[in-house]
Amino acid sequence: MTKQRIISTSQLSTALEQLLADLHFDRLFILADEHTACHCLPLLGDGLTSHAHLITIPAGDDHKHLATLTHVWDELCTHGATRHSLLLNVGGGMVTDLGGFAAATYKRGISCINIPTTLLAMVDAAVGGKTGINHHSLKNEIGAFYPAQAVVVCAQFLRTLDMPNLCSGFAEMIKHGLISTEEHWASLMRYDMHTPDLDALQSLIMESIHTKEGIVAQDPTEQHIRKALNLGHTLGHALETHYMRRGTPCLHGYAVAWGLIGELYLSHVREGFPADKLRQTIAYIKDTYGTPAFDCKQYDELYELMLHDKKNLGTDIRFTLLGGIGDIRIDRTIGRDEIFEMLDFVREC
Ligand code: GLY
Repeated sequence: MTKQRIISTSQLSTALEQLLADLHFDRLFILADEHTACHCLPLLGDGLTSHAHLITIPAGDDHKHLATLTHVWDELCTHGATRHSLLLNVGGGMVTDLGGFAAATYKRGISCINIPTTLLAMVDAAVGGKTGINHHSLKNEIGAFYPAQAVVVCAQFLRTLDMPNLCSGFAEMIKHGLISTEEHWASLMRYDMHTPDLDALQSLIMESIHTKEGIVAQDPTEQHIRKALNLGHTLGHALETHYMRRGTPCLHGYAVAWGLIGELYLSHVREGFPADKLRQTIAYIKDTYGTPAFDCKQYDELYELMLHDKKNLGTDIRFTLLGGIGDIRIDRTIGRDEIFEMLDFVREC
């Protein structure tokens, strides 16, 4: 898989002008959702948007499905996209996932560039080459590994992002800190999420992206070490589905942050993850995300959800755990009793 070019800028229109000048393409297309079309496209600059055909799709993960993808293919087709056309995906993870998959499949693959507009997309969805759509209510069931030619990261977009969505993206950054180095993890633990400084955040974002890129470069298709990126997600996905089912959905990053509490506890018990770092990370998470509300009557449901996580094999529940910061232990099988103990810990902490 080719490595993505990652461009960090505070001058988006200038950076894009330079980037596009280096590329060869015949027609330019921009994919945005109805919110990013209105709030984010102005940052790209008139020079660029006036030369492109804009494809707008409805916002939200509920629309990340085949009908929306078909609309994008139709627009590309009817406006003369060729194998040499370029698609700019401007939006959150829904737009970069669906737009990346449209690019992967249209005429067997056209070039695309991701311009993520949410923190979650900057540090996760837009980087690493996973693209796809939901199908039969299963998330990302149909997709392809298809890296964008470049990812352009501009923290200016975050000025208009609400606080819960900023915190949601930051949870993936905490995860990247935990799987990288003590220095990176410590700089995240010092970052004040209550009064976010976007200039300081931009350099933390770049460090976070480089952590993810380093792991993806070793294992693009998730056969081994890319599973490190699942830290916090086995419990996190179960909590996310549980909250959605009971009609009180939570943002992905909140579920991941709570998942990290449980999975760091397992890391401590099973792999010797240091107690001081466990305490410090949990304190940061509690202060930023609160704690999840569930009781022991929901343990069976959460257990079943973890069991059916598509990343498991057979009847084992496999976690990514840590022996310390950056000391990654993949495919750790954990039994039902220990999982219930983990749930006790998350509830009581
Ligand atoms: N979001 C995890 C990954 O890209 O592998």
